[in-house]
Order: sequence, then structure tokens, then C-alpha cells
Amino acid sequence: MCGIFGYIGSKKALPRLMEGLHRLEYRGYDSAGVALLHDGRIWTHRRVGRVIQLERTLNEPPDSRTGIAHTRWATHGGITEDNAHPHLDTEGRIAVVHNGIIENMTTLRAQLEKEGVVFRSETDSEVLPHLIRHFYRGNPLEAVNSALQEVRGSYGIAVLFADHPDCIVAARNGSPLVVGLGDGETVIASDPQPVVAHTRRVVYLEDREIALVTADDIELQRLDGTAVNTEVEVISGDYDVADQRGYPHFMLKEIHEQPEAIERCLRGRIQEEEGNARLGGLNMTPRDLLQVNSVTNVACGTAYHAGLVGAMAIEALARIPARAEIASEYRHRRPIVSPDTLFFAISQSGETADTLGAVQEIRLKGGHCMGVVNVVGSTIARECGAGTYVYAGPEVAVASTKAFTSQVTALLLFTLMLARTRNLSLGEGRRVARVLKEMPSKVAEYLQRPGPIDEATAVVRDAPYVLFLGRGFSYAAALEGALKLKEIAYVACEAYPAGEMKHGPIAMLEEGTPVLVVAPRDDQRDKAISNMKEVQARGARLIVVHTAGDDEVAALADVAIPVPPVPYWASPLVTVLPLQLLAYQTGLALGRDIDRPRNLAKSVTVE
Ligand code: M6R
Repeated sequence: MCGIFGYIGSKKALPRLMEGLHRLEYRGYDSAGVALLHDGRIWTHRRVGRVIQLERTLNEPPDSRTGIAHTRWATHGGITEDNAHPHLDTEGRIAVVHNGIIENMTTLRAQLEKEGVVFRSETDSEVLPHLIRHFYRGNPLEAVNSALQEVRGSYGIAVLFADHPDCIVAARNGSPLVVGLGDGETVIASDPQPVVAHTRRVVYLEDREIALVTADDIELQRLDGTAVNTEVEVISGDYDVADQRGYPHFMLKEIHEQPEAIERCLRGRIQEEEGNARLGGLNMTPRDLLQVNSVTNVACGTAYHAGLVGAMAIEALARIPARAEIASEYRHRRPIVSPDTLFFAISQSGETADTLGAVQEIRLKGGHCMGVVNVVGSTIARECGAGTYVYAGPEVAVASTKAFTSQVTALLLFTLMLARTRNLSLGEGRRVARVLKEMPSKVAEYLQRPGPIDEATAVVRDAPYVLFLGRGFSYAAALEGALKLKEIAYVACEAYPAGEMKHGPIAMLEEGTPVLVVAPRDDQRDKAISNMKEVQARGARLIVVHTAGDDEVAALADVAIPVPPVPYWASPLVTVLPLQLLAYQTGLALGRDIDRPRNLAKSVTVE
């Protein structure tokens, strides 16, 4: 996590650093800080809280053209001003901002303390300026390089030297860094989003690379001293600053953007006549598709839930084994990777450390992994090399909404391609293609008439515990709904496969416990009805998401929320919508920070 931004050039650094931090704040927002070079000295300012707090408390900052800045998501050490970045060496001549985790910080700290260093923070990051100082003999690049030889763990860093106002040193291992080469100015950032305000010409640092950055140049090498061919790329993605377009929160805006996001994901990809789809970025012929014997989706959080839907759709329509794996579990458990399995790494940000780690593990074991990613040019997209962008557009709210429905849409397009090389006939393929094409209007139809979300909010807002239930595809929707309610409203809840309820969670039910059942009209509906009766018999208050017109199910519920009818394999695209709105309304009713919920960050770039 954490966002890093650095500026060196002919213009005032501070406003550019602040602008950069605002655009990186989604990566963490516990505290923020800035270091500026001026008159051979380093000036710093740090504050607990948001970038805006930092900005408001800036008191007579020097007029500097070189600086580094940081927005933090705490890992080592509490949320305090002392733990905020930048960190300085003892004499205040070297400043460092760091994203990542220094795993051998205890050993390094002990060594430095023996040398007389007094640490001022509890962070792992503070070892860096002291270690760099330990090796500094007048050459910034050499000092940072020597220090990093001692470090185990992940880092993206930017380093200022009071003695060298004409450069910033940047280095990366496991935590992304991109350098933007502008006209007489160079910027360094954790991702391309804040870079595009300056330039679209960028150099992505690879792991164990170090760069000496000046106002008009970059000198790149590997940490082992070997030279690197600097490849300048021109980025073309949509990185515009999203505005709230009149919505009170980004989350609500992004929920309402889902019809257009799905539409964008489908655009140019459906072949209605052929009853097929085309995802060009996969670069797979029908013969390649035929050689795929199983599919594994790896992802975290909401993206994992999209992966579950995708896996179920592949099994149901393409009839080959498919599964979804939580990336953090998968990467560390000695996974079996077979050459005829196709892997998808699903990620909105394309920066999630665990998903990236899983991709690297899969590739190291000879597996074939493609990305299903939203942010163009992100680390996972580049690491995979091939895949598909979901084109949901910038997602700012920490709670992922439109990325989920776009990820599901992309995976359904792939399912159609795969299924057509197997048992799906032309006629069936055309029907699937038609359903996909209609999804934006189905989603819009629901959002225009969202049903009694207020009533459902009144049921869950003060509940000590809420149980979400669903079967099959609806279990994935239930998982996603429960995650949203936790994240945004901090209401304790969990999702269970409805059939599994009687094996334990039923013990949680008492008079009035809210149980939310996702029960669209599919071949599991009757079993879901039995589950509803079981929970009602225990006094639960029932909120049901059901297919419009299914009066039998609606009649069972205390609060019944109808969604438009769609085939079972597409149902999460509509059943998830009321669950997103429920989390939003509940968060609002409880006075939560909707777009920046506590303890979270938009992009989880540490393990
Ligand atoms: O950027 P990614 O899609 O890789 O992020 C994965 C999860 O961290 C993310 O979906 C998280 O669970 C969201 N906050 C959910 O709303």
C-alpha cells in the first residue's frame, strides 16, 4: 500500500507533490508527509490523517523545485506523526519515502542501534535512511544500492539527498514505481495515475532496479550493477481524475455507472451472428481454447467473488473444470500448476500484492496466466503480458462495485468463447450473446427502480449480526454483499452457502436476526425457499432478493427486493446491485466514511 510521489524540475514542487498525493490517496490514507530540498537542506512536514490535513497545515514551506511525498497505510507502527513518512537519517540530510515491508528490519535496526542510531519511529521504513547514511560516501546511487543489498523484503522508494539537489534516487523490489519523463521535469510515482498530469512518457522500474532521476534524464541499472536498456513507453489509458458528477459519494456514482461500465466491457467483443465473443488481448485461437482443460481464477476480495462467478459459468456452459482461488492462499501452499490449465489473475487495480505474487508463482511453475484487469498498464497487466481489460473506468471508492460487474462480464465473454469451442451450439451461443448484450439495460432497469432498500437498511443497521445466504451463483453474490456491508457499514455479517447453514451458522439465529437470502428464479430456488422457512421458524427477519414476478418467494419475505429476470449464469450481475445499495445506505445511516472506510485502502500492495 502507500503512495509515493516525487518531483524534480523547473516548476514549484509542492503543489505538484500535493496533487500527486491526492491522486494516490486511494492507496492509503492514515497519514501523509512531504520532504522538500531547499538551500542545501531538507524541509519536512508530516501529519496524521488525509492529504488535505497535510495541505492545510503547511506553514511557510520553502520554494523548492525538488521533493518527495507519501501517503501511508500503516503496517509497522501505529498511525502517528512519528511513523509518517518521509523518514530522515540522524542529521536530517537524507529523506526516504517507502512503500512495502522491510522483512529483516529487526536485525537491521539492532545493527544500526549498535552504531548509535536512535530511531524516532516504530516503522520498518526508518531503517532505510539510516542504512543509506551508513553507506554514503558522497555518491547517492552507490549509497542506496549498497543499502538495498542488505535489505530483505519489498520496497518502492524515493530518496532525497541534501547534498544533491539535482537528483532523486528511486528503487523498486515488489512495490511498483513508475518514472514519468516530462519536458524539463521528471516525476516518480507508485502508479501511472498521477503521472499523466505531467507526461505520458514513462519508464516502469522492474524488480531490483535502481534509478538516478534528474529533471531531464533517468539513469537506470540493476542492483547487481548491470546496465539496463531504458525502455520508454507511451501510456494511453484513461487516467482522468474522476469527479463525483453530482453524486454525494463516489461509491454511489460508481454503482450507477454499472450499465455504462458493462457496456464498455462488451463493446466490440460480442459476435452476435456467430453466437460468439472475441477478447483480442487473450490472443487465443479456437484451437488454443480447445487445448485448455481447466481454468483457475486467482484474485482477492471482490475480484475473487467475480472469479467464483466466472468459474461456475465456465463449468456450467463450457463444461470443463474451473475454480476460483484466494490469491494469498494459493501462492503460499505449493500449488499444483498444470500446463493445460489456463489461469486468470483478476484485479481491479492490477497492483494487489497477493494476486501479483500468485501470478509470479504460476509463471515460475510454467503456468499460463492472463490478466482480467481494470487499470491499464498496471503491474499485473504488464506481468501477465496478455489478458483482457475490463474497461470499468476509474474506480475511486474503496468498495469495489462497477469493477465487480465488469469483471464478471469479461469472464462471461470468455466463457462464451470457450463454450463455443466445445458443447455450445450456434443457437445457444446466440442466446448467450444476446443476454450479455442486454445486461446493461437490465442493470439500468434495476437501478431506476431499486425497490425497498430503505426498509432493508432499517432491518440491518443496528443488528449485531447479519447472515447472507445463497446457493450456487447466488452464494457468490451473497459473499460480495456481505463483504460490502462489512467494509462500508462495519456491520458484523457473514455469507454462507444456504445448504451449509444448518451445519453451524443456524445457531446464530435468534428472534429478529436479519437473514438476507439471494434467491433468484433458478433451479436452486425451491431449496432456497426451504432455507427461508428454516430461518423464519427461528424468528429471523427475512430480506430476500428475488426475480421480479416471483410472488411465492416475495410473499415469504419481510422485505422483498425484486430484480429483473436473467438466466442463472448472469444472475449475480443483477442480484449484487441491491446488496451494494444496502451497504451504501446502511453506511450512510450509520454515519460511516463511505468512500474511505476505516483501516482499508483501495489497492492492497503489501502481503
Ligand atoms: O484491486 P483488486 O481488485 O486486486 O483488489 C482486490 C481486493 O483488495 C478488493 O476487491 C477489496 O476486497 C475491495 N475493497 C472490495 O470492495
